[in-house]
Amino acid sequence: MAHRIALIPGDGIGVPVVRAAVEVAEKAAPGLLEFQTFDWSCDLYLRTGRMMPEDGIEILRGFDAIFLGAVGWPAKVPDAVSLHGLLLPIRKAFVQFANIRPHRLLPGVAGPLVKKDFDILCIRENTEGEYSGAGGRVHQGTEDEVAVETSVFTRKGVERILRFGFEQAMQRRKRLASVTKSNAQKYSMVFWDEVTRKLAAEFPEVEVSHYHVDAIAARMVMEPETLDVVVASNLFGDILTDLGAAIQGGLGFAASANIDPTRRSPSMFEPVHGSAPDIAHLGIANPIASFWSLVMMLEHLGEAPTATRIMASIEAATAGGIGAHAGQDSTDKITEAVIAAL
Ligand code: IPM
Ligand code: MN
Repeated sequence: MAHRIALIPGDGIGVPVVRAAVEVAEKAAPGLLEFQTFDWSCDLYLRTGRMMPEDGIEILRGFDAIFLGAVGWPAKVPDAVSLHGLLLPIRKAFVQFANIRPHRLLPGVAGPLVKKDFDILCIRENTEGEYSGAGGRVHQGTEDEVAVETSVFTRKGVERILRFGFEQAMQRRKRLASVTKSNAQKYSMVFWDEVTRKLAAEFPEVEVSHYHVDAIAARMVMEPETLDVVVASNLFGDILTDLGAAIQGGLGFAASANIDPTRRSPSMFEPVHGSAPDIAHLGIANPIASFWSLVMMLEHLGEAPTATRIMASIEAATAGGIGAHAGQDSTDKITEAVIAAL
């Protein structure tokens, strides 16, 4: 039976890269995915005052997965409005607590580093931490103004993301790097370290390293080949995965999956690059991050053979130099190359 996919192309280059991914999916496995498109975006906000309808979450709940392009058009809608109206509520409402982002160089992609043999899986906590949304402002606009934004780390939240990280490490090279800043943040991050040590006892085969976020940022540049699974809090993971994208050749290659590992709710798959207003109308958005996110979605849906075929076709295209260099090939040309390889 076909898997039912909610498509949210969103804003800017989200639209062409989602369209390209649908073409690739239909070529690879006709009828395997049944798409329904939602025009939830900044355009919708400008027309209706909402990024998605009031019952948007309930509408999405009925799908097997969500495929999202990008959200944001800061010239017209403040980012804090658009993101809190669409992307972030989906991650939270569906308890997509694991944000998975693979960082490795595709064949033919040079990347900025001398060391090329890295294969890092970043696992970012995706529902709490620094993105808890708890906070407020008082005395607004006066010189006594105060803004407070509270990070929230729950035992449930920290344990489940670290456990997920250990499970991923068991399926890979059995190394886990836990990221904190426990030398400076003595409550939440010391707690995170304690939970890491507790879980490490359950996974004796996994070699665990504890890094401070500043130190691992340097390591991702200088010795990326020493890292396997990296588990980090929401904000630290956000920052490290843009760094991961940079070392893999740019945001055009960075894929992601927002997973609810319990499978009670639909998971969401999205390229990391965002809406890129500056190039939105040029037809040069690299769809590879979107294709790779499609691969992650198919794996999640239990369609590994199709996922593997699409990944091989992406790699055939980049190995042939198509889509391998930032800004060089059009979205259409890269899509055609992947489809030809299929
Ligand atoms: C990402 C993005 C989002 C995040 C923004 C757009 C809110 O940067 O998915 O990495 O910070 O999670
Ligand atoms: Mn980000």
